[in-house]
This record gives sequence, structure tokens and C-alpha cells, in this order.
Amino acid sequence: MRYFPLSVALAAFPIFFAATPLLSPATAQQARPPTFAVCAGCHSTQAGKTVFGPSLAGVGGRRAGSLEGYTYSPAVKASGLTWNTKTLDRWLTDPKKTVPGTKMPFNGIQDRKVREQVIAYLLTL
Ligand code: HEC
Repeated sequence: MRYFPLSVALAAFPIFFAATPLLSPATAQQARPPTFAVCAGCHSTQAGKTVFGPSLAGVGGRRAGSLEGYTYSPAVKASGLTWNTKTLDRWLTDPKKTVPGTKMPFNGIQDRKVREQVIAYLLTL
């Protein structure tokens, strides 16, 4: 009984280490998910560089439609969204349903795991 707490602590260690890479921005950044290639056709990850869509540099915490120098659809500007895990998840599941009238011509990522990877990566940019 005396050793019980120690064994619990030891058992928790692998869980801690297994979870760490998912939570570490540095690690996530190295692992640009393959799916991001689709986004990269329209989005740069360099600040101030417009491809067809706005740059995604610093997108985490940014108000939707707020990047200076990019001409957004009125719908995105008026959406009232701020980009975080939750709003990005809705947006990337179905952009046109999340913000009707958006000009982002993308149907969404249906696989939740893939979406999570893309979002984790976006939040490191
Ligand atoms: C075919 C081009 C295209 C593809 C592919 C595309 N986007 Fe977009 N994206 C756009 C355009 C255009 C906008 C601006 C939408 C508007 O103003 O209505 C946009 C807007 C966004 C925004 C809002 C940015 C802001 O500043 O408010 C995010 C976030 C975003 N896209 C993420 C993604 C991600 C992640 C992917 C890949 C899974 C992706 N996009 C794929 C063209 C694209």
C-alpha cells in the first residue's frame, strides 16, 4: 500500500511523454502535416505574403478578416470570429457553412484527426 502512489506516478510518466509532442508548438511546427500542401496552394505562411488567400502567419488569436492589405469577403469580415482551436475546427470542417458567403473555395477536411493536425500546425505559425 505504501508503494501505491509511486507506482501510479511511474505509470503516469509514459502518458506525460506521449502527450508532450502534441502540446509542444516547436514540435508541431517541424511536423507540417501533409494536408497543409492543399492550403499552401492558396496561403503563404510568411507574414505579409498574399497568394490567393491571406497569409496564415500569426493566424491563431487573429480576428477573422482583419489582416491589413488583404481584400476579404464582407462575410468573413462580418463573421465576428477569432481564430482559435474551436473556430478553426468549425471553419475547416465546412468553410461555406461556417461563414456563408466566404470566397474561400474549399470544401473542408472531413477527417477529424487530419483537421486537428492542421489546426495544431496553424497555431504555431
Ligand atoms: C483555393 C484556395 C484556398 C484553399 C485551398 C484554402 N484557402 Fe483558406 N482562404 C482562401 C481565401 C480566398 C480566403 C479569404 C476568404 C474570404 O475573405 O471570404 C481564405 C481564408 C482563410 C482563413 C481566414 C484568414 C483570416 O485572416 O481571417 C483561414 C484561417 C484559412 N483560409 C485557412 C485555410 C486552411 C487551413 C486551408 C487548408 C486546409 C485553406 N485555408 C485552404 C483560399 C483558400
